Amino acid sequence: MLTAAAIADLATRRYTCKAFDPARRISPQDMAALKTLLRYTPSSVNSQPWHFLIAESAAGKESIAATLSGRYAYNASKVRAASHVVVLCARRDMDDAHLSALIEQETADGRFATPEARANQYNSRGFYADLHREQLRDAGLWMEKQVYIALGNLLLGAAALGLDACPMEGIDASAIDTALGLEARGLRCVLLVALGYRSGEDFNAALPKSRLPEAAVISEI
Ligand SMILES: Cc1cc2nc3c(=O)[nH]c(=O)nc-3n(C[C@H](O)[C@H](O)[C@H](O)COP(=O)(O)O)c2cc1C
Repeated sequence: MLTAAAIADLATRRYTCKAFDPARRISPQDMAALKTLLRYTPSSVNSQPWHFLIAESAAGKESIAATLSGRYAYNASKVRAASHVVVLCARRDMDDAHLSALIEQETADGRFATPEARANQYNSRGFYADLHREQLRDAGLWMEKQVYIALGNLLLGAAALGLDACPMEGIDASAIDTALGLEARGLRCVLLVALGYRSGEDFNAALPKSRLPEAAVISEI
């Protein structure tokens, strides 16, 4: 169990790394822990509408970095120098095949004592899937929101392991979809996270963090 002080320390110590040391690599043990964090991210009705591609090889990272030109060029060096780059993807559809895969997994994992319990879960998830697909027509946004929960988990987990990270929305997501063949896999790139260790050239490491005061963002009722 982490102490309250340790949690607060993680939140205030972690920061966005702007320059990675290309010589340092994250251990397989730490990467395994981060994969567990990604997989166990909570999501609305356990919908898990995501996939995470992890680029470790120079070729894998280069296929992403090559898409970061023009106004996104400032992020390319982070992708090239990082130890690993995670491509956080959302599904393109919350389709019936995915809903079936979810209920089968929950059944295999022993979540249901009775057929009724399974049917309730299937119907409840189906209600929300239909709500977003047919009424609100925001299924894509709904799935992207779940991906951002994984982002939060990943950033805090990386900090807990003493790793540095750079989340990146400054990307051409559709160029990454093309470069990595994501559309054919029913996926779309939402954002990237570069992971590794800061280099001595990271100007951001020495800058103080800046946040609005507590009273501006938290109220008691
Ligand atoms: C969703 C998201 C997208 C971001 N995109 C970029 C980016 O493309 N490039 C970059 O250098 N930093 C990016 N950042 C870093 C933010 O600027 C940074 O998190 C923010 O200024 C707070 O600073 P801190 O992370 O050091 O606490 C992004 C952060 C988030 C959460």
